[in-house]
Formats: sequence, C-alpha cells, structure tokens
Amino acid sequence: MSFIVAIDGPAAAGKGTISKVVARHFGFVHLDTGLLYRAVGLKMLDGTDAISAAKALGATDLDADGLRTPEVAQAASKVAVIPDVRTALVDFQRSFAQHSNGAVLDGRDIGTVICPDADIKLFITASPEVRASRRFAELTASGHDTTPDQVLADVKARDARDSQRDVAPLKPAADAVLIDTSDMSIEAAVEAAITAVQHKREQGR
Ligand code: CDP
Ligand code: CDP
Repeated sequence: MSFIVAIDGPAAAGKGTISKVVARHFGFVHLDTGLLYRAVGLKMLDGTDAISAAKALGATDLDADGLRTPEVAQAASKVAVIPDVRTALVDFQRSFAQHSNGAVLDGRDIGTVICPDADIKLFITASPEVRASRRFAELTASGHDTTPDQVLADVKARDARDSQRDVAPLKPAADAVLIDTSDMSIEAAVEAAITAVQHKREQGR
C-alpha cells in the first residue's frame, strides 16, 4: 500500500537531506521536486520557452549538469510562478507519489497542492540567516565564488518570490508538523522527522 511523506519548506532548510534519510530508513522512493523547476529554469536560460520546456521535460533533464547553481535556482523560482509551468509538472509528481513502496516528495507545495492527502506532512524551516550560511558553506565547498551577503540576498529574494506568488505559494499545510532547524544539528532534524513518520506509520496499523 502506498504511503506518502510530503516535505516542504524554504531553501536550505534541510528538506533534501531529511528526505533522503527518511526514504532510506523506510525503504521509500524519493523525488526532489525542486529539480523539476531547476530543469525548466535551466532550459529557459538556454532560450527555450518555459511552458514548452515543462511540457516536454524528461528523466534525463533531471540529471543535467549545472542544476545546482545559484543562477539556476533563481531561474527556477522565476519559472515556478507561471501557472502553466506548474500544471505541466503535476501528473508526474502525483504518479511518483503513488509508488507502492511508499514515497517521499520534497518541495514547496507538496502538502498543499500536489499531495493534499499525504499520510504525513512536514514543514522544515530555519531563519534566513542560518539557511544562507548553510548554503554559503555548500557553495564555497563546491568551488563557487560568492559572498555570504550575496547568498543571503539570493535566499531572501527566492523566499519572497516563492511565498508571494498567486499559485501554490510556499506555506505550511494546516496539518503539517513544523520542524524549525535553526538551532538543530542535521542529525537532530533527521531524527525528529523519522520519529514523526514512524508515529504516523504506527497509527495507521
Ligand atoms: O533541501 P534543502 O535546500 O532544504 O536543504 P539541504 O540541501 O538538505 O541542506 C542544506 C545544507 O544545510 C546541507 O549542507 C545540510 O547538511 C545543512 N544543514 C545543516 O547543517 N543543519 C540542518 N539542521 C539542516 C541542514
Ligand atoms: O534546494 P533549494 O531548496 O534551494 O531549492 P529547490 O528545492 O531546488 O527549488 C528551487 C526553486 O523551485 C524554488 O525556489 C521554487 O521557486 C521552485 N519550486 C517550487 O516552486 N515548487 C516545488 N515543489 C519545488 C521547487
């Protein structure tokens, strides 16, 4: 029987790390839905119309080089405000969620729009300053030339665009479990998420 874990939150809150460990722990499949928007954003930067790119998106696009750059993150949040882009990506995400082993999807609108009936919803957050310093550490470790101020400005610009858009804005679902990781180690955050999912699994028996 399928079991759906919806994980939402702003950039560098810890969603990806938590999703991967939760998926491994429970034997679920995992989809980082940000990659879909990043892939469309990359195509837009290359000159393709965003709506056509979203409609034609294929599995290989999600493995493309350069999806993790700050430029593509900004482009992703720009194409993500276009309603037809979002609509074109819905079916793929919903069918992924139905995987019989159970599925973890992480993004911005999983608990609110993509899987409103998810078995459990987690909203992972942290202050913009903490998130920016985590993202800065990741970027410099992977050889990007940037500054803490630039990364903070990028994070805040993306937060604003993601939470203020008309369609599927970033916000916790009414029934989401909130986890603020500002003062938490990644291990503690992962532990809190696994405990919450485990609790729901046991309730369902
Ligand atoms: O997927 P999302 O953008 O929400 O975040 P992530 O890629 O999982 O985490 C961003 C970075 O923050 C990673 O390097 C994590 O190891 C780190 N992190 C942390 O140090 N402490 C936390 N409580 C959560 C994430
Ligand atoms: O890894 P990080 O949290 O920095 O970003 P991401 O999850 O890869 O998402 C990149 C951008 O895609 C976000 O800033 C959103 O604008 C958009 N996105 C979205 O609108 N809906 C989703 N379900 C996932 C991502």
